[in-house]
Amino acid sequence: NKGKYEHYMQKEIHEQPESLRTTMRGRLIRGGSCKAKTVLLGGLKDHIKTIRRSRRIVFIGCGTSYNAALAARPIIEELSGVPVTMEIASDLVDRQGPIYREDTAVFVSQSGETADTLLALEYALENGALCVGITNTVGSAIARNTHCGIHINAGCEIGVASTKAYTSQIVVMAMLALAIGDDAISSQARREAIIDCLFDLPNKVREVLKLDQEMKDLAKLLIAEQSLLVFGRGYNFATALEGALKVKEVSLMHSEGILAGEMKHGPLALVDENLPIIVIATHDACFSKQQSVIQQLHARKGRLIVMCSKGDAASVCPGESCRVIEVPQVEDCLQPVVNIIPLQLLAYHLTVQRGHNVDQPRNLAKSVTTQ
Ligand code: F6R
Repeated sequence: NKGKYEHYMQKEIHEQPESLRTTMRGRLIRGGSCKAKTVLLGGLKDHIKTIRRSRRIVFIGCGTSYNAALAARPIIEELSGVPVTMEIASDLVDRQGPIYREDTAVFVSQSGETADTLLALEYALENGALCVGITNTVGSAIARNTHCGIHINAGCEIGVASTKAYTSQIVVMAMLALAIGDDAISSQARREAIIDCLFDLPNKVREVLKLDQEMKDLAKLLIAEQSLLVFGRGYNFATALEGALKVKEVSLMHSEGILAGEMKHGPLALVDENLPIIVIATHDACFSKQQSVIQQLHARKGRLIVMCSKGDAASVCPGESCRVIEVPQVEDCLQPVVNIIPLQLLAYHLTVQRGHNVDQPRNLAKSVTTQ
């Protein structure tokens, strides 16, 4: 049932304040007068010590689920101190890459049935790793075959392009980071700030959804373009990849997410006065580096659309021609949840305006059960 919406993708984008709330329900503990704020992940309680002691955490997934894990990687490394490596499921299997008994392998999948991810799971089980599942489907193959896990609880997602599952996956992995790091006194203030921010996150998402009309207008400007680049770094490298994936898979426009730190190592050659470029420059530790990227793109006459934190427009915009998308600021590690939403809206509106099928893009299936 699409309710008041025209498409499932649109409904699922706008549902995110509620889906995030459901994902967090019963898992965040506010703490009493002398109790610290903490998280409770029932499905992991017997394994959390093993995860904390593992030599490495390996995230494994495909497409949007991989991007969600990439968005969560920095906060997991920061709070757990355990090195995190990323694997695209098919590539791990192709390479027969090393997986050890001392590893925790985390399988991220909305459907829980993706063939590539399942094969990687079989492979990690054979190699003796502790296998954790993060899926949105209770009883799915990945949920059944892992040693333990966390349900995403984002609710059923029907649009082929994953939207609300993505933001809920990031929140689940941020909660995983909090759970793994829970015994360190040194990071207690940081953890509590993140928990406070999680409580308020649905409100911030509601606020960013108000950009709908602005994104519809931006889509009108971009409707006839051949290509769109998205630059991000740090926490928002994943946002760049995921934003570009959304645009290409539904609107059928070529789009590429680029790590801003790699700009000078090739992509800069593409920049001219015609190619639209979105630069994600919300306020975090990478902000001044992104300001300098914007300056360099501007110096080459790049057609810039800058995503920045509210109030930063004047300090990020190099000139009149630059468009701005202002988003509410949240804790740096949760900023990807907010930042992806305007890009989901942009992909949605571009698709409708270009006359393509939003909910069932050409050649794609919701659950990829073949290799
Ligand atoms: C993109 C998209 C795909 C899936 C990928 C993995 O919007 O939905 O990239 O993320 O096929 O699917 P799951 O998460 O079900 O394993």
